[in-house]
Amino acid sequence: MSDDWLIDNQAYWDERAPLHTTSDFYAMARFREGATSLRPFEIAELGDVAGRRLLHLQCHFGQDTLSWARLGAQVTGLDFAPAAVEAARALATELGVSGARFVESNVYDAPAALGERFDVVYTGLGVLGWLPDIDAWARVVADLLEPGGVFYIAEFHPFMGVLDDETGTTVTRDYLPDKPTTFDEPGSYADWHLPTVHNRATVWRHTLGEIVSALCAAGLRIEFLHEHQVTYFDQFYNLVRDEDGTFHRPDGLPRLPLMFSIRATRS
Ligand SMILES: C[S@@+](CC[C@H](N)C(=O)[O-])C[C@H]1O[C@@H](n2cnc3c(N)ncnc32)[C@H](O)[C@@H]1O
Repeated sequence: MSDDWLIDNQAYWDERAPLHTTSDFYAMARFREGATSLRPFEIAELGDVAGRRLLHLQCHFGQDTLSWARLGAQVTGLDFAPAAVEAARALATELGVSGARFVESNVYDAPAALGERFDVVYTGLGVLGWLPDIDAWARVVADLLEPGGVFYIAEFHPFMGVLDDETGTTVTRDYLPDKPTTFDEPGSYADWHLPTVHNRATVWRHTLGEIVSALCAAGLRIEFLHEHQVTYFDQFYNLVRDEDGTFHRPDGLPRLPLMFSIRATRS
């Protein structure tokens, strides 16, 4: 496979990251006032990060990274989009978050780019689909952790990708992966009306089995794999929005997992 996908995907994110910093989706006014952007279950499941060296892979413009910093972690965010890293640095400076740093790198090059290991590696919410090789990704995660270090991911459930976008009730796509999907659409989940020009991107589906197996093969010990009935964006048009900003499937439909989370340790 050529590296065209990498050029496309980088341009796709480089254009969207700065636009996302002003989108309603990311609720920056509340964030600037001190609200966390993390999901309550993430904070509960990862546990106390105060004083720990935390690496956030695919950190986007740093909102979640800086939320971990506000909880006392010494954070490093990593992303391959130069504009995302630039926006994250600007946000850290604006908010006066000291000790946060942001590094521009492809995930697969992260061990060489960073040259150090971390107590915690965190990632999630729209990251794995952008990665072609899940086994190599898991080896990178293991490589970046100190012995005894913790890996935590909260991600959209891969099974949800097989359902139709309207109602989420009909299976319309493969669950078991075949080929990557290349799409060409303006905007993004944050705002489908964003005036974007770099619209071609390639994504991959990794099943839950592949993700768990990759982490195990890389030497991580999985403590739990949780499946959640709520999600944080309107993936299907009929999801019901709750007051706390979460979305769930309408009553009466089969109960399916919308997100999953994994906590694992490196021995
Ligand atoms: C959907 S966004 C993550 C959103 C993030 N969870 C948030 O809400 O702020 C995906 C991010 O992954 C980054 N990314 C995609 N592929 C990457 C790669 N191979 N290496 C590093 N970063 C990558 C993109 O630049 C983008 O910032």
